[in-house]
Amino acid sequence: MAEKLYIGTNTKMYKTIAETVRFLEKLGQNTADIPRQELVLFVIPSFTALERAKGVIKGESILLGAQNMCWEDQGQFTGEVSPLMLKEVGVQIVEIGHSERRHVFGEDDETENKKVLTALRHGFTALLCIGETAQQKEYGIADEVLRTQLKIGLHGVTENLLPRCMIAYEPVWAIGASGTPASREYAEEKHTVIRDTLKELYGGAAAMVPLLYGGSVNNANAVELIEMNNIDGLFIGRSAWDADNFTAIIRDVLPAFRQKH
Ligand code: PGA
Repeated sequence: MAEKLYIGTNTKMYKTIAETVRFLEKLGQNTADIPRQELVLFVIPSFTALERAKGVIKGESILLGAQNMCWEDQGQFTGEVSPLMLKEVGVQIVEIGHSERRHVFGEDDETENKKVLTALRHGFTALLCIGETAQQKEYGIADEVLRTQLKIGLHGVTENLLPRCMIAYEPVWAIGASGTPASREYAEEKHTVIRDTLKELYGGAAAMVPLLYGGSVNNANAVELIEMNNIDGLFIGRSAWDADNFTAIIRDVLPAFRQKH
């Protein structure tokens, strides 16, 4: 079980630079009193907003992430963003393999693996997102899919790099306006599959990897999810994009998280 509560949001292709700045300022003010020894709070805005975003975040109170990254440092990769460019801006987290990258832009596990290795090599925290589609769930192969995404995605990641890895379990059928949130029992079952696969790969060190649930997390289900043993955090889309609502969720789940420890 992770020692801190991990809560973050990816703003996807929403929020302009100005909107991101306002959101971060508000979120920073709203959460200023929450001790960061027990909370890792992160925001992953659009690329264009990163630099200004970095400027308004106070210290490490909110970690800044990028939604994607090229696996090469530089070269003929039109339209891609290099790890060196992200480092220059002060990004700490790189999100890799979000469902929309996999299913809208056709990224596969081998690509995610290259990105994970590059992110770790450059000192970033790699947030690897995994999750089965509705069809894979229907076929009864969700566990196999998760194990495959983990084993390929983390291939070559040595145990010493594990403290800089986070896993987000986001069932594809649960994400977005047309998604249905997973029940906490289902989410816990899949988080247990993920934890067991990590144990198979890394033994006892697997316990330190934060496992975040994502997919239609909202004010009504956040607490019951965090109460589960293997759910160390939440990765939230729509419900987090209003700073006050995001803060309300954080304040709701903190006591439930403390209860677990
Ligand atoms: P959602 O998005 O909370 O809006 O379903 C989750 C995600 O895509 O990370």
